[in-house]
Amino acid sequence: MTPTFAAPDTRAIPVRTVTTQGFDDWLASQDVPVRDWVRANGFIGTAGQILRLPAPDMSIARVLLGWGGPKDRVRTRFLFAKAAVALKSGTYALDGDLTANQTEEAALGWLLSAYSFNRYKGDEVEVARLKAPKGVDALRLEAIAAGECLTRDLINTPASDMGPDELEAACRDLAQTHGADIKVTTGDALLEDNLPMIHAVGRASTRAPRLIDMTWGHDGPRVTLVGKGVCFDTGGLNLKPGTSMGLMKKDMGGAATVLGLAHMIMATGQNLRLRVLIPAVENAVAGNAFRPGDVLTARNGLTVEINNTDAEGRLVLADALALADETPPDLMICMATLTGAARVALGPDLAPFYTDDDALAMALNHAGHRVRDPLWRMPFHRPYDDMIEPAIADLDNAPSGGFAGSITAALFLDRFVRNTPRFAHFDIYGWNPVAAPARPKGGVGMGARAIFDALPKVLSL
Ligand code: BES
Ligand code: MN
Ligand code: ZN
Repeated sequence: MTPTFAAPDTRAIPVRTVTTQGFDDWLASQDVPVRDWVRANGFIGTAGQILRLPAPDMSIARVLLGWGGPKDRVRTRFLFAKAAVALKSGTYALDGDLTANQTEEAALGWLLSAYSFNRYKGDEVEVARLKAPKGVDALRLEAIAAGECLTRDLINTPASDMGPDELEAACRDLAQTHGADIKVTTGDALLEDNLPMIHAVGRASTRAPRLIDMTWGHDGPRVTLVGKGVCFDTGGLNLKPGTSMGLMKKDMGGAATVLGLAHMIMATGQNLRLRVLIPAVENAVAGNAFRPGDVLTARNGLTVEINNTDAEGRLVLADALALADETPPDLMICMATLTGAARVALGPDLAPFYTDDDALAMALNHAGHRVRDPLWRMPFHRPYDDMIEPAIADLDNAPSGGFAGSITAALFLDRFVRNTPRFAHFDIYGWNPVAAPARPKGGVGMGARAIFDALPKVLSL
């Protein structure tokens, strides 16, 4: 499902935003019958209040949307999403004193309110449509919404229908849509191509592990996106308890999010050379599973002692990052549902990210704020390197003690990025636990909109 704006020539009902502060002045400017109707219905501009103003024939002439106080303005996307749902049907147009940024937020919220995951229910609900507001780049907003919906669909689809094969198929679809090239290395070919840790993590599954490598664009700076594609994470022989395993269909959330971002980039024709690398595996249990105590050798020659088979994401990402780093892009971004520790630190909404590049961090934080896709920079604290250096191998995949789990995972990944000048790693959650307007419970993209917004600045596009 791809949400779009209503055709420009459709007749639309104006939706007028009214703030609590501006309410009295606005009311004073209205005719007596309107004033009476507004007063009788108790509308005072409180955030989220909706009032339909009838025409003489009882059709809806206008809609008032309460826009609250200054603090409510940061929730513009959610307020409009909520309004879109409440209005149910018909076509509307924005009318009010919104800044360019607020207009974009409102329009995106409206588009995203149309998202629902109905693959197994088949009941698409009718939703109110919006005409693209004047001054916004409608195609760009539609590309952002479509990217986000792709991410959500991929995460929401259960592992039975979203294994390595199906994730590959989704990548092939996306590549075909945008004329990208795609190469996939599957099963034992991973060993021939020196991607041993992807093979080791994924070999116990009946569904073959693979590395998906997609490229697009011929000019401009090189950007490589790497996404964790663990289609289901049982924990391996260090089996997760049931409560922790329940949500692990979402362990390909990093892959889903970079694919959504890739869609935004390709659909808007950004002038860059894009590469997307996705190690797609299932961390399963079988006689041939990798074991605690095993020592694996990564693509770049580093040896890794397996202290916990549940710390599998960093292993498959390590090979993908090492491969990416052999053709160093100008910017590399890794996204992964990597650690529970990141959730303990920041909860489900904030996407923690790591980078050594202060300018990149500032651009990302700024963009995150601008497009309300909240990010938080975390420290690549090198003194903790000791924690990932055990006795019998170069690296330990799961430091005992569990201190700073998200940081040590990030430091682990960093060992595989040696030549790329700008690198950022996002330890995302990929799941919205509580339903909210434009954010139903379930899979959700994190950080993609902020990265997309920051790209022109970061890469001088
Ligand atoms: N996919 C999980 C991380 C995860 C768990 C993300 C829950 C979001 C919610 C990852 O593969 C994992 O199991 N990590 C372990 C690492 C530990 C064994 C060092 C973790 O975070 O507990
Ligand atoms: Mn795991
Ligand atoms: Zn995992």
